[in-house]
Amino acid sequence: GADVSKLLSQTGYVTYDPGFVNTATCSSKITYIDGDAGILRYRGYPIEQLAEKSSFLEVSYLLIYGELPTAAELTEFTDKIRLHTLLHEDLRRFFDGFPRDAHPMPVLSSAVTALSTFYQDSLDPFDQEHVEISTIRLLAKVPTIASYAFKKSIGQPLLYPDNSLGYVENFLRMTFGVPAAAYDVDPVLARTLDMLFILHADHEQNCSTSTVRIAGSAQANLFTSISAGVNALSGPLHGGANEAVLEMLGDIQADGGDVEAFVRRVKNKEDGVRLMGFGHRVYKNYDPRAAIVKKAARDVLARLHKPDPLLDIAMRLEEIALADDYFVSRKLYPNVDFYTGLIYKAMGFPPKMFTVLFALGRMPGWIAQWREMINDPETKIGRPRQLYVGYSSRDYVPAEDR
Ligand code: ACO
Repeated sequence: GADVSKLLSQTGYVTYDPGFVNTATCSSKITYIDGDAGILRYRGYPIEQLAEKSSFLEVSYLLIYGELPTAAELTEFTDKIRLHTLLHEDLRRFFDGFPRDAHPMPVLSSAVTALSTFYQDSLDPFDQEHVEISTIRLLAKVPTIASYAFKKSIGQPLLYPDNSLGYVENFLRMTFGVPAAAYDVDPVLARTLDMLFILHADHEQNCSTSTVRIAGSAQANLFTSISAGVNALSGPLHGGANEAVLEMLGDIQADGGDVEAFVRRVKNKEDGVRLMGFGHRVYKNYDPRAAIVKKAARDVLARLHKPDPLLDIAMRLEEIALADDYFVSRKLYPNVDFYTGLIYKAMGFPPKMFTVLFALGRMPGWIAQWREMINDPETKIGRPRQLYVGYSSRDYVPAEDR
């Protein structure tokens, strides 16, 4: 309700752009999105090709270093990551201190921040070797941290990494295995999770990535900048959406599966209820990642022989929404997280872990964006302006006179 032109004349001319809907704060060579056409490319490579043919660590390399690795470069990168999967024993003990029912996202962000206390000798953002080793440590240790957050929440002992296994396989074993018992990783599940990580690996200047960049613009180190990103990701309008989708589907099921009634509530904006997993700031067309995930959800559920009535509800919701003028006129389509929760659930992850899986996937994107930011001579400390709408000036009144 503020008179913006009056405010502007008082403040001097600034751009008033809540939510940075139309403000570019950096230039970037990492990820290209055409939201109207539904296109996503990492370093020029279409997401569909990467999801089908590449691997998560190869995509991580691509995002961070700008080119696909040669076979030798990929082996070297993978081996380096393998060498750093262990957590310091003192950091391992952190997990004893959190409440049993702690949400794993703040546990993850706390542990990522804590990494900066264990590696104080290599935190200089402008020292290439420091940044390199921090990059490897983050990629290597975050799956260990994530599985420990999970183990803590279910009261099981923490497993050490088994570095004979691949990146995703190791994570699955630490998460679902128990000591002194064999754990055979289902290769199809491992491949699906690897592919989901690829889909989440970067998405240019989204809320968490912008948070990483803005923290880093103050020259906060890589660990603390990325921890800030983890916290931003935990919000239900961002990474928390996959968890919220499953809750929503469960609520609809509990109400007798009346999808039409739920859609009516959304359209009437009853209690601000939204169709979670729908809509995107940038995609005004089908999110290309959602198409890939939808197919994977069908395949994985069939493979696991775990038919899930929630998948039927989700598909019905999509069908109704895509034929309804409310959603069509607002260009609301399923986003990447509309179907991911169903796959994670079928794999055995509880909803609390869904956003953590998003964070594992997004890690190389955050790292690549932080590194691009720190090496960009145009980078300035992030410091938006405001339109001040408070009192102009008034005199202090002692407490007894108020
Ligand atoms: N369900 C119902 N209506 C919606 C939805 C939705 N999911 N999303 C947007 N709308 C409506 C709004 O009510 C608004 O309608 P109005 O013009 O009548 O007021 C219009 O569409 C525009 O919505 P905005 O909130 O202005 O869109 P914005 O670009 O700011 O928000 C967002 C994007 C946050 C993703 C939004 O679509 C949303 O809340 N979606 C649900 C949460 C979600 O799935 N988030 C995941 C995002 S993707 C990711 O992080 C991986």
